[in-house]
Amino acid sequence: MKKKIITITGAAGNIAYSLIFRILSGDIFERNTKIQLNLLDITTALPILLGVKLEIEDCAFTQLDDVIITDDPEIAFADSDFVLLVGAKPRTKGMQRADLLLDNASIFQKQAKIINDKAKNSTKIIVVGNPANTNALIIQKNAKNIESKNISSLMRLDQNRAKSILSAKTNCKVENIQQLIVWGNHSATQYPDISNCTINNSNDDILSLDPRWISDDFIPRVQNRGAEIIEHRGKSSAASAASAIYDHLNTIVNGSSDWESMGIMTENKYDIDDEIFFSYPLSINKDKINIIDNIELNTSSIEYIKKSEKELLSERDIIKDLL
Ligand code: NAD
Ligand code: LMR
Repeated sequence: MKKKIITITGAAGNIAYSLIFRILSGDIFERNTKIQLNLLDITTALPILLGVKLEIEDCAFTQLDDVIITDDPEIAFADSDFVLLVGAKPRTKGMQRADLLLDNASIFQKQAKIINDKAKNSTKIIVVGNPANTNALIIQKNAKNIESKNISSLMRLDQNRAKSILSAKTNCKVENIQQLIVWGNHSATQYPDISNCTINNSNDDILSLDPRWISDDFIPRVQNRGAEIIEHRGKSSAASAASAIYDHLNTIVNGSSDWESMGIMTENKYDIDDEIFFSYPLSINKDKINIIDNIELNTSSIEYIKKSEKELLSERDIIKDLL
């Protein structure tokens, strides 16, 4: 029997309540692969976690092997194949994600050290808790047994948002939109970039868009979509975030025929500091993640990208003692 151990932190929270059920009912893994879920939350959330476990059992998922609920990270990260780091404080109205940095950074520092000791060295880590890119850097610096290439931060929610907004504007199906990418930080400085985008294998629809719609409507709408959701729901995105984590995990396991965006830390040809988790255009084939490094950037694109890099460098500076 093939088996994968997936650890989810913050498992009693909002995102996890969608994510767990998406993974267990989805088709990321072959049907003959069994899934063991290790669900971690803090001690006071254990009663909720027990309720979540009972609901998982009630679904009678055929791929489920076991569910372990715990407040002990040493148990949660033991032998993990995939670690989904969701557990962290979310922002509320009026906050920027970076305002969470000092509250959340220590969670990631502590967990990194335990992941380092307990998880498989080949484990793949996806960082979701905000500010996700800089938390990923904390993980990378404190979990030296895990290769950097196995750590990524979530940008898929931004990419999905951008695709959906573009699809509504152009009246085209999302599946026919290709090569849409998001550069930089998962923050209001991110740069959703449609310059290389094709719709139905052609760039005609993109070229016919009003440049003012792109700069004054599309880009800020994507950049601020998280805040727009909080404004309406009173809470940050959860189901759409879970869906994006599912897509991200699926891409890591099965690859993708489209360009993808994820926060990764690597040398690059775009003159971006290689000690930050920055979202690049990526091609992903099973275990191989490569930057698409021959994109020509105009002055405006470079300005957006450099602004986001600057923000990530200042976030790094704030938590430098944890690195
Ligand atoms: P939530 O408050 O509903 O759930 C967070 C859970 O984490 C809670 O159950 C809490 O008890 C738990 N937790 C706190 N500290 C923990 C620790 N040390 N170990 C284990 N669990 C811990 O929040 P949510 O809506 O699920 O969001 C979780 C995080 O994801 C937030 O930081 C949010 O901003 C972020 N987020 C990121 C993206 C993205 O695209 N990167 C999208 C949406 C939300
Ligand atoms: C999002 O983009 O919806 C999340 O990062 C939550 C937030 O704080 O905006």
